[in-house]
Amino acid sequence: MNLDALADSVLARCDVLAGCSEEPGRLTRRFLTPPFRQVHEHVSRWMAAAGLHVRLDAAGNLRGRAPGREPDAPLFVVGSHLDTVPDAGRYDGVLGVLLGVAAAEALSGRRFPRALEVIAFSEEEGARFGAPYLGSLAACGRLGADLLARRDAGGVTVAEAIRAYGLDVADLPAAAYTPGAVAGYLEAHIEQGPVLDSLGLPLGVVPAILGQTRAWVRFAGHAGHAGAQPMHLRRDALAAAAALVTAVEHRARTTPGLRATVGSLTVWPGATNVVPGQARVSLDVRHADDAVRARAVADLLAFARSAASERGLGVEVEPGLEQPAVACDPRLTARLAAALEDRGHRPEPVPSGAGHDAVVMAGLCPVAMLFLRSPGGVSHHPDESVRREDVRAALDVMICFLQDELAR
Ligand code: HGY
Ligand code: MN
Ligand code: MN
Repeated sequence: MNLDALADSVLARCDVLAGCSEEPGRLTRRFLTPPFRQVHEHVSRWMAAAGLHVRLDAAGNLRGRAPGREPDAPLFVVGSHLDTVPDAGRYDGVLGVLLGVAAAEALSGRRFPRALEVIAFSEEEGARFGAPYLGSLAACGRLGADLLARRDAGGVTVAEAIRAYGLDVADLPAAAYTPGAVAGYLEAHIEQGPVLDSLGLPLGVVPAILGQTRAWVRFAGHAGHAGAQPMHLRRDALAAAAALVTAVEHRARTTPGLRATVGSLTVWPGATNVVPGQARVSLDVRHADDAVRARAVADLLAFARSAASERGLGVEVEPGLEQPAVACDPRLTARLAAALEDRGHRPEPVPSGAGHDAVVMAGLCPVAMLFLRSPGGVSHHPDESVRREDVRAALDVMICFLQDELAR
């Protein structure tokens, strides 16, 4: 097994998938949009070449399985996601899928007691429907009617998007792993932050994943003439939104460990000479301690309501996600750390500020996460990168870890 060649093929394949985008000149690939067909064709071919039996489930998750010797033994799953944020980097999610395929290829000549499944989740970011983890929720039997009814900006529901892709919502139950059927889940992912890079380390293990709240705050005022309308008679929705953006930043800067972001702010009608009548603000609040996060969210929503009432505005909160912090499984993580040490690496613990499909899979089975260094801590950006030697090191560790897990 030539780790250099495998690492090069993983990077080359990341480049191929980076060309599968909804828009020219930048990488955007949301849940089951047209570029998913090319991606599914490429990854299916690579999975088959690695000796995996390939199937596409009703939620658009692509799965490649190497059967085990003992048909009743719980299988082991390795995976990550194929969707991206708008104007994304080429490694977030995709790298974890392709590392799984390459590890399966490296182990393909051997028949282990456990089956190995590589899963490429169809949606983790939440970029199209505002609700993340649709793929892994389906794999865990949790893609319910409320999520299937969510609409994208064009008014298309999740269920309609599934049908439009040629899949059948009625088959969703068959997409769910049977409880007890999965022995464990490993996700390899870029760190997306600066910790490993600052320590000069190629790899790390994830002890826990921060909890996160995502929501939208909609301010409803009244559009008016920017020149004719006196200030005291205005109902300016954007002024309230701007106050909330500043309050979010201030709370996060003054609360240890809190990360809070307004990533999207839409204004209506958006003309320079019109007092804004509507504004919609996104909230993304994260912390390792769920109580700290909940208090911050409650205080920020109370602030939004007071900012609205001061200006005679209506205010509405649209929930998006309530995801408690998740501890990775200590035993599986200890075995992953042992694999790092066995291959000559320090198993640096790096809590994850980013959410991952491992968060959802943790409700089904023990999970462990392997982080790869993000040079400059850059991610969710076209300049996202990885080092070839780190991809090689990750493969080396994953193969060492998986051959033990598949043989247990
Ligand atoms: O936003 C996140 O935590 C991840 O990138 N989906
Ligand atoms: Mn991401
Ligand atoms: Mn990701």
